[in-house]
Amino acid sequence: MNYRGPLRVRIDEKPMPKILHPQDAIVRVTRSCICGSDLHLYNGSVPDTRPGMTFGHEFTGVVEQVGGEVQKLKAGDHVLVPFNIACGKCVFCQQELYGNCHESNSQSTAVGGIFGYSHTAGGYNGGQAEYVRVPYADVGPTVIPDWMDPDDAVMLTDVVPTGYQAAEMGGIQKGDTVCVFGAGPVGIMAARCAWLFGAGRVIVIDEVDYRLEFVKNYAPAEVYNFRELDDVVQFMKKTTDWMGADVVIDAVGAEAAGNAMQTLLGRKLLLQGGSATALHWAINSVKKGGIVSIVGVYGPIDTLVPIGNVVNKGLTVRANQASVKRLLPRLIEHVKNGVLNPKALITHRIPLEDVSDAYRMFSAKLDNCIKPVLLPPSARNGR
Ligand SMILES: NC(=O)c1ccc[n+]([C@@H]2O[C@H](COP(=O)([O-])OP(=O)(O)OC[C@H]3O[C@@H](n4cnc5c(N)ncnc54)[C@H](O)[C@@H]3O)[C@@H](O)[C@H]2O)c1
Ligand SMILES: [Zn+2]
Ligand SMILES: [Zn+2]
Repeated sequence: MNYRGPLRVRIDEKPMPKILHPQDAIVRVTRSCICGSDLHLYNGSVPDTRPGMTFGHEFTGVVEQVGGEVQKLKAGDHVLVPFNIACGKCVFCQQELYGNCHESNSQSTAVGGIFGYSHTAGGYNGGQAEYVRVPYADVGPTVIPDWMDPDDAVMLTDVVPTGYQAAEMGGIQKGDTVCVFGAGPVGIMAARCAWLFGAGRVIVIDEVDYRLEFVKNYAPAEVYNFRELDDVVQFMKKTTDWMGADVVIDAVGAEAAGNAMQTLLGRKLLLQGGSATALHWAINSVKKGGIVSIVGVYGPIDTLVPIGNVVNKGLTVRANQASVKRLLPRLIEHVKNGVLNPKALITHRIPLEDVSDAYRMFSAKLDNCIKPVLLPPSARNGR
């Protein structure tokens, strides 16, 4: 997959990736998803997204080759690769903040390295490809257990840990009302996981009916289409005895719809880093003293948010990129025990060669698409 500029991706032949450091591995990709985070790149909203880069931070693959210092992996291992690139040794990795590694992204002191995610996240090529170079191979990549379906495994590279962490950061107490903005794969998984933390009521809000229908059955959750509500915040207050939800999760990020002014300022005139509509709604519809958990992506550019309401309502705001490696042992157990069924979100299996159609479909939310998986030729031939 080769990014050519906003709304233009295509297939090109690129050189075979090479071991550049003794801790690298080269992985032959078996599955690679497109994520809502890729849409920010595709739309041209992430600074320093350079033509010629390959996206893809959610992939599984077979290890082809390892560098001289790699000890835990060997050729032939089938691995799932967390989207975070983390050194495993720095002060942040030591605290299991694998999304904030200090070594893997020299461009930033905020986010760590991410596969296929612009030079603001380190400039690494990603896994929407046949082969990919995986740095710090002893840290992130995890051998897929024999019993696990690779479709579940690829969902553990991002969607499942991100949804789970969204619920975890919400500090949900038994019986809490949890509202999730966004019914994409991440919001769907956040709603599902909210129950695991003891929620008493889970509400999901989006504008896409087929996604709301899915999450209504899958989480399960109460669902509302914000296009059918006069005022989302007013509605959330009304449905919670005028208190607000205990916990609100933003699973939308900087390309939210629903407010013409935000869209104009943030997405048309580029006077702020995208539209913060869902975050406004989250802050304004959570109860006083409540928690707003943000996993929706906001980039390095500033965005106007109602900070006064955060202060005067006494809110706690918690946010981060998911720390995939920290959560994997727990989530693998949840898949094993049938508590989570991640592969149910996969609606489309698309040849890698058709990547440009896949982006168009996922971006425009056509054909009831929830999660598309790209399959390179070798994976389709059963290797
Ligand atoms: N923090 C992390 O580690 C992490 C990891 C993965 C994805 N993300 C981010 O999470 C967000 C969701 O990812 P996804 O893959 O589910 O994306 P997606 O694009 O498939 O889903 C986003 C959904 O939000 C809906 N939406 C738009 N405006 C809304 C609004 N104002 N209120 C409610 N819903 C609205 C859209 O209709 C869409 O269904 C993205 O911003 C993505 O970048 C973060
Ligand atoms: Zn992702
Ligand atoms: Zn680190």
